[in-house]
Amino acid sequence: MSKVNTVGRILISEEEILRRAREIGQQITKDYKGEEVVVLGTLKGSLLWMSDVVKNINLDVKLDFIQASSYGSSTISSGVVKVGYEPSENMYNRNVIIMEDIVDTGNTLSYIVKKLEERNPKSVKICTMLDKPSRRVSDIKADYIGFEVENLFIVGYGLDYDQRFRNLPYVSYLTEEDVEAL
Ligand code: IMP
Ligand code: MG
Repeated sequence: MSKVNTVGRILISEEEILRRAREIGQQITKDYKGEEVVVLGTLKGSLLWMSDVVKNINLDVKLDFIQASSYGSSTISSGVVKVGYEPSENMYNRNVIIMEDIVDTGNTLSYIVKKLEERNPKSVKICTMLDKPSRRVSDIKADYIGFEVENLFIVGYGLDYDQRFRNLPYVSYLTEEDVEAL
């Protein structure tokens, strides 16, 4: 275990995240009035944000998960995506809301949307905690966005560096110096 296990730098506080999750949950409740929704979380990063948003959706909600990851190095996204866990819920004729931690290049998400559409859902929308539009490669846009972030390496509130820092109760970021000290 290295010495660094917390990052004291708060980019977005828990309070701000909870406030935004409440707004988005209420918006989703309005947008889908009288409908059922399947909230499909992308493992593992979306877990904390998903939990905050779904508590504020006042509809008939089912939860499911999908795990997908890009092949290749972390800096050069190959666009080739591997699915590790498939959703078990029936998606046919359902309103699906994909819950993401962050939309970066958008490659993973566009793959997930394509896969999902093979199951003929009624509708597909995307809700993401963070959006990094400066890095976008795929032509994809989230419908509900918590916060826009600059081109930083984000950790915390579900997001990891080498599987660490997911449990930080705020959104932070790592600098190159931080990474060298890990
Ligand atoms: P994309 O396919 O490039 O849009 O990103 C796929 C996944 O990479 C995201 O869902 C995150 O799990 C991860 N990711 C992208 N940017 C960051 C970051 O800044 N910190 C941690 N994980 C990230
Ligand atoms: Mg993710």
